[in-house]
Amino acid sequence: MDKSVSKIFDLVLKNGLVVLPNNKVEKTDIAINKGKITELGSVNNDQAKQVIDLKGLIVIPGAIDTQVHFREPGLTHKEDIYHGTKGAVLGGITTIFEMPNTSPATINKRELDVKIQIAEQSAFCNYSFFIGAAKENIHELNKLEKLEGCCGVKIFMGSSTGNLLVEDDQSLKEIISGLDRKFAVHSEDEYRLRDRKSILSEPNITVKNHPDWRDEETAINSTRRLLKIAREAQKKNLHILHISTSDEIKKIEQNKDICTCEVTPQHLYFHSPDCYETFGTRVQMNPPIRTKKHQDGLWYGIKNKIVDVIGSDHAPHTNKEKNEKYPLSPAGMPGVQTLLPIMLNFVNKGKLTLDDLVRLICKNPCKIYGIKN
Ligand code: DOR
Repeated sequence: MDKSVSKIFDLVLKNGLVVLPNNKVEKTDIAINKGKITELGSVNNDQAKQVIDLKGLIVIPGAIDTQVHFREPGLTHKEDIYHGTKGAVLGGITTIFEMPNTSPATINKRELDVKIQIAEQSAFCNYSFFIGAAKENIHELNKLEKLEGCCGVKIFMGSSTGNLLVEDDQSLKEIISGLDRKFAVHSEDEYRLRDRKSILSEPNITVKNHPDWRDEETAINSTRRLLKIAREAQKKNLHILHISTSDEIKKIEQNKDICTCEVTPQHLYFHSPDCYETFGTRVQMNPPIRTKKHQDGLWYGIKNKIVDVIGSDHAPHTNKEKNEKYPLSPAGMPGVQTLLPIMLNFVNKGKLTLDDLVRLICKNPCKIYGIKN
């Protein structure tokens, strides 16, 4: 840092071990002006309006959660943007990408603007919103994906919370062929879900059967179809959300030239059947948490850089809703506030390197979605 000119900074973070852009971890001071990092190096205390001593602490770049479901508008009895983004910053997340399955669903500019206006008034962190793909907006998606405040298009191939759904190959082809930006897909095969729905009427059904109804083939079929469609359309901008099977990791490994993918902390942390015995419907989500074999496959994907990002799939419901008897209980669990602590715990336990963590939750989200600054 040039000491000849004595600069004054709004805030200086001193003595932290800082993960630098070149991946090196060094003890250095961070000088901040108007909310932006302006210098790295050694800064005198008298150059700072405020000093925070970070001795013994590690500083990473801003963590980004590229998959959260806040519930505003329409479902604010579960959560709103104010509380969702407050949870994010309390958990060390600086930016969120929010999903379109609100009520009404975010499928046009009007609904996107509603969210942006709410966030401008109430959000604690940076934000961006997905536009949901639906049969009625197929031909507008190419325009919608480029709107300011939009992070891209989200496609639900299998139905989950809300009514967004594009299940057939023909519509998927049309959508995917027309998209220029990175698009994100919930990959579960709706046809197989429908075929297997009778499982839910069997006597003594419990949440332990959730991964039987939405079985591994449901996820694998869908991902296979999706990759084929993207390959045929010569598209390389596919991002598959919350991968839950070891088979999909292998399939994605063979198709890394055209797609990126996400895994959630909960699929890396929990496995069936234990998680259902201990936590019941609290861990019910789509796609489901599966056996240890699949969990090991996801870790293989992390270690071999097949997995690109960790997203929380933060999806809160009320206690009352989650206490409903399965299958009436809704799928989804909160996670935006716990993503970073859980992943840091894996770092402390030696399951993950700090380098990998920074790649998965800071650098790759920027790279994949082209986030500036
Ligand atoms: O379990 C889930 N819950 N998976 C999803 O894809 C949607 C989410 C929600 O919004 O509740």
